[in-house]
Amino acid sequence: MHNQYQNLMDMFLRHLESYQINLIGKKPKELYEPEDYILSLGGKRLRPLLALIACDLFDKDPNLSLHSALAVELFHNFSLIHDDILDAAPIRRNMPTVHKKWNSNIAILSGDVMLVKSFQSLENYGFKEYKKLSKIFNETAIEVCEGQQMDMNFETSDNVSVEDYIQMITLKTAVLLGCSLKMGGVNAYTSEENLNNIYEFGKHLGIAFQLLDDKLDTFSENLEKFGKQIGGDILASKKTFLLIKALELSDDKQKKELINYLELQTIAPDKKIEGVLNIYNQLNIKKLCEQEADKHTNIAIDFLDKVDANSSKKDQLKMFALELLNRQV
Ligand code: IPE
Ligand code: IPE
Ligand code: MG
Ligand code: MG
Ligand code: MG
Repeated sequence: MHNQYQNLMDMFLRHLESYQINLIGKKPKELYEPEDYILSLGGKRLRPLLALIACDLFDKDPNLSLHSALAVELFHNFSLIHDDILDAAPIRRNMPTVHKKWNSNIAILSGDVMLVKSFQSLENYGFKEYKKLSKIFNETAIEVCEGQQMDMNFETSDNVSVEDYIQMITLKTAVLLGCSLKMGGVNAYTSEENLNNIYEFGKHLGIAFQLLDDKLDTFSENLEKFGKQIGGDILASKKTFLLIKALELSDDKQKKELINYLELQTIAPDKKIEGVLNIYNQLNIKKLCEQEADKHTNIAIDFLDKVDANSSKKDQLKMFALELLNRQV
């Protein structure tokens, strides 16, 4: 997927490797082994790549963004460790989640230390840069927590609108993509206007990305590449776009059935997933989700168009975004 940015990806992976070397043998091992474990499981490395891409987009040496890139990747992985506790998720990147492999206490603390280390990575910048980067990074970190709490609140709420949902995913997911790009822009000393446009590009890309993640949570056909339990959102009664739309469009009979699946504790997990999926299919929900994602992809592209930068590099980033959103995994 990242072929056109392979050099940037390699640059980040080398930096990450030199960071991870310092984790080996560090004590107490319960604190640091889970960090090494989750970082070694890979993932798409999307956020650090975005930081390097943005710096390069403004024609500055992407090496300048390596500490920002590590910050956002550490933060992302911290958020996943804690997210998997919140979502009771058994599998991440095809492997047991940290709280399953160890336990929840270890997952909480090792996540905490990663969060602190994400901030610490920014200490490598000069004071002026540090202040600017911290401002956007800290704001974003708080927003992610707000989004995660909204996500939890929505599980037991029965009047969540599409608008509420978009606000929630903007906070829990999209702002971190915007932040990653903006930090790369800060490292390149670009203008406020460019920072704002690249941030909005990333934010709408992130909204589309989370919509498609929700779609894949139910509809992914490539279990191994998706790397997470299929149907997890249905089992946790997550108010995804899919479920909100299905509740909105269902007739009385379908709605009763849907609510039954969501509320009855006695239904076997497989039956719950199958039953909800059936109703999604009757209502063509998958297509609607893709259309909603497309809407935000187009908004994202409009913001990218406004960025004042080398046009062939902008085209390359546009291609990358479209490819990312086309992911089957
Ligand atoms: C997972 O993010 C969490 C969401 C915002 C959907 P990614 O899909 O970027 O996770 P990795 O890092 O590639 O595993
Ligand atoms: C993840 O949302 C958002 C954060 C980790 C902050 P999800 O709960 O949908 O992510 P996955 O599907 O577990 O990766
Ligand atoms: Mg989750
Ligand atoms: Mg979650
Ligand atoms: Mg998900």
